Amino acid sequence: MLTSWLPQCSPVHNHGNWSIVACLGDETTGWEENYFWTRLDDGSQPGHAQVKIVSKEILKPGDVIGFTPDAIHNIRSIPAQEVPSPKPTYLFNIFGETDLNNRYQFNPFNKTLENF
Ligand SMILES: [Fe+2]
Repeated sequence: MLTSWLPQCSPVHNHGNWSIVACLGDETTGWEENYFWTRLDDGSQPGHAQVKIVSKEILKPGDVIGFTPDAIHNIRSIPAQEVPSPKPTYLFNIFGETDLNNRYQFNPFNKTLENF
């Protein structure tokens, strides 16, 4: 799957599958900022999840990143800084088969999660 992003931010989520993401483009195209989260609770309370940010990585054109099915992240696309009219971030994604029962969107403020 090829995607392009104008500047925006995603919710905190996992994919419920493995995936590989490659950032495409050149010095005039955008980057993708990934925030990685970890789950602090034991998962025993339905609908409840406590997560916190543990690291950040910026994908620039030419960079590739891999995710395990339970990796939790959110992303923010970053427009190229030197371009008068910012160009999108271009990404090439390869996903494994999605386990929809284990794909979640997390709300770190309300400490909740839900399938999506
Ligand atoms: Fe994602």
